[in-house]
Amino acid sequence: MSSLPQILCEKLSAAPAGRLPFVQVMELALYHPDHGYYGAGPRKIGRSGDFFTSVSVGQLFGKLLALRALEEWRALGAPEDFTIIEQGAHDGQLAEDVLKALGSHPIRYLIVEPNPRYRAAQATRLGDRVQWVDSLDALANGPGNAFFVCNELPDAFPVHLVRWNGTRWEELCVEATDAGEFRLVPGEYSCTELATEIESLPQDLAPGHTMEVNLAMLEWLRTLARARFRGSIFIADYGLDEEEFYADARAEGTIRRYHQHQMDGRVLEKLGECDLTTHVNFTRLIAEATRLGLPQREYDLQGRLLGRMAAPWLRSLEGSPPDAATMRQFHSLTHPALMGRSFRCLVLEKPSAG
Ligand SMILES: C[S@@+](CC[C@H](N)C(=O)[O-])C[C@H]1O[C@@H](n2cnc3c(N)ncnc32)[C@H](O)[C@@H]1O
Repeated sequence: MSSLPQILCEKLSAAPAGRLPFVQVMELALYHPDHGYYGAGPRKIGRSGDFFTSVSVGQLFGKLLALRALEEWRALGAPEDFTIIEQGAHDGQLAEDVLKALGSHPIRYLIVEPNPRYRAAQATRLGDRVQWVDSLDALANGPGNAFFVCNELPDAFPVHLVRWNGTRWEELCVEATDAGEFRLVPGEYSCTELATEIESLPQDLAPGHTMEVNLAMLEWLRTLARARFRGSIFIADYGLDEEEFYADARAEGTIRRYHQHQMDGRVLEKLGECDLTTHVNFTRLIAEATRLGLPQREYDLQGRLLGRMAAPWLRSLEGSPPDAATMRQFHSLTHPALMGRSFRCLVLEKPSAG
């Protein structure tokens, strides 16, 4: 069977000038159905995997999201029809934690999952407590009232890479070297949407400054805006505000590869064996969401927003503190030196579609 580098070599030989835009290589590296990092089925996340997420820290993240879902449900007048919709559910761990915290509450749970292997793994874990759709566009008849959640989803979308050459922004493409390795080279813009996005990038950065343009995130926001539910959208991810991307310290962009808890910028090596990920540009995300009719309700560092979400739970514990493991989870999720500062949480208002 071919390996991912072999598959990429074949694709490069067939491509004009032997080059492909980086976005297509990242798509292949993450989502090739057999050899992509995420394609073949959910990999382990956590200590024995390549990286931690808030979900892998423990059950507390799911508990806090369940409390938030109940708050959203009450704010809508406690309707009979209310669904938690999750996208990027991976192995179903967050769904399991949220459902456990909800106990016998009749809130429904729906997962948006395009990959049948992930759906099978989630079904094994969650059984008939959950329903599935392939895409947000498949919500043609509802579900009506909903609380949409995702953790670390847009950071896993394939991005275009662009570099300022002192005069103009160039798109970075991938080509094979004579030594059989891959390298980034500048090329022409591969689509007009990229050219439009680039118009709003600054032109006073040092030559060589590299950035990611996440057009897939903008497309995803469009599907969220037209999805047939009303309520709210909760997005947690690591990311930055726009100005932070322009700092000299970020001149190489935010794209990184993760393997066994080691992180580096050698994103064209060990393709398919490592996670590739970028920081979410929350300024851009919020601007596009607002333009699409999804206004911002709350945006904050994860530590602060989860801290506020946890307040009723913490108050309810007065006199009987939680066990040490739960307190460690709270600390990991909220401490500024751990996940509290680098991760951000955003809540958007979702009026009815159409
Ligand atoms: C970084 S992992 C996060 C997994 C999990 N949410 C967590 O926090 O532990 C990103 C996940 O998003 C999934 N994903 C990427 N694009 C997706 C899409 N369009 N629809 C559903 N899931 C997607 C990947 O398969 C992967 O499971």
